[in-house]
Amino acid sequence: MSAQEPAGEEISLDTSVPHIARVYDYWLGGKDNFAADRAAAEQVIATMPDVLVSVRAQRAFLGRAVHYLATEAGITQFLDIGTGLPSANNTHEVAQREAPRSRIVYVDNDPIVLLHARALLASSPEGVTAYIDGDLRNTDKILAEAAGVLDFGQPVAIMLLGVLHCIPDEDDPAALVTRLLEAVPSGSYLTIAHPASDIATEQMSQSMRRYNEQVRAPVTARSHAQVSGFFEAVGLIEPGVVQLHRWRAGTGDPGTGRDLANYGGVGRKP
Ligand SMILES: C[S@@+](CC[C@H](N)C(=O)[O-])C[C@H]1O[C@@H](n2cnc3c(N)ncnc32)[C@H](O)[C@@H]1O
Repeated sequence: MSAQEPAGEEISLDTSVPHIARVYDYWLGGKDNFAADRAAAEQVIATMPDVLVSVRAQRAFLGRAVHYLATEAGITQFLDIGTGLPSANNTHEVAQREAPRSRIVYVDNDPIVLLHARALLASSPEGVTAYIDGDLRNTDKILAEAAGVLDFGQPVAIMLLGVLHCIPDEDDPAALVTRLLEAVPSGSYLTIAHPASDIATEQMSQSMRRYNEQVRAPVTARSHAQVSGFFEAVGLIEPGVVQLHRWRAGTGDPGTGRDLANYGGVGRKP
């Protein structure tokens, strides 16, 4: 297992081009972002102010989904791909609060997330957290390295929150989901959060176009049917694929009473 220790790593960081992890960090009110990230983030806000509610709703969805998985579903193993910069209620914190022996493998391809990986590696003494510097497109590497920490003979929750939209259609994101699901046994779970192309359609296409003009890695919003398609091989847990702030929402969750162009869902491998 190559759980990365950030100290001493040679990390090359091009801060002149906006990057999704740092743009998302800015929208969440974080400090790990640079001028180019802030400029791109502000352009999206100008076209689509609700993005600020949407990212908070996504973190809240992550918390509710992990809580569901760690409690009702009895899951103690998590493979969280597209982890992002550490924020409040990271996957291991929510999971280990409920089940301290939970084992979490984080994966991201952004060097700045690697730099901050130490915060993600602060496991409970009974559990384990590890970090893989890897790309979702390279599922074989991810699965091989994660096998040093996760027991793939036991159920695993695959977490793909805010990352599948970073995979363009030509890289076949559905095939990546299929490959990950093939590697885990019956009783495993798939959780996805994905920007919607068929809600606030005009605002979404305009803001995404503006964003994509500035970045090296463009993003793709997808329709309800397309996001549901990622769950083809699993049984959806109620309420299915919905705007993610409506997925088992509690009182006080961000976005209540409005539409957010962001889908979420959880499914169980039969
Ligand atoms: C929008 S953030 C989402 C963070 C977190 N999952 C959440 O929902 O709050 C997306 C993260 O995915 C990472 N990412 C994007 N493309 C990726 C890829 N192909 N492989 C691995 N990580 C990727 C980015 O670096 C970023 O940290």
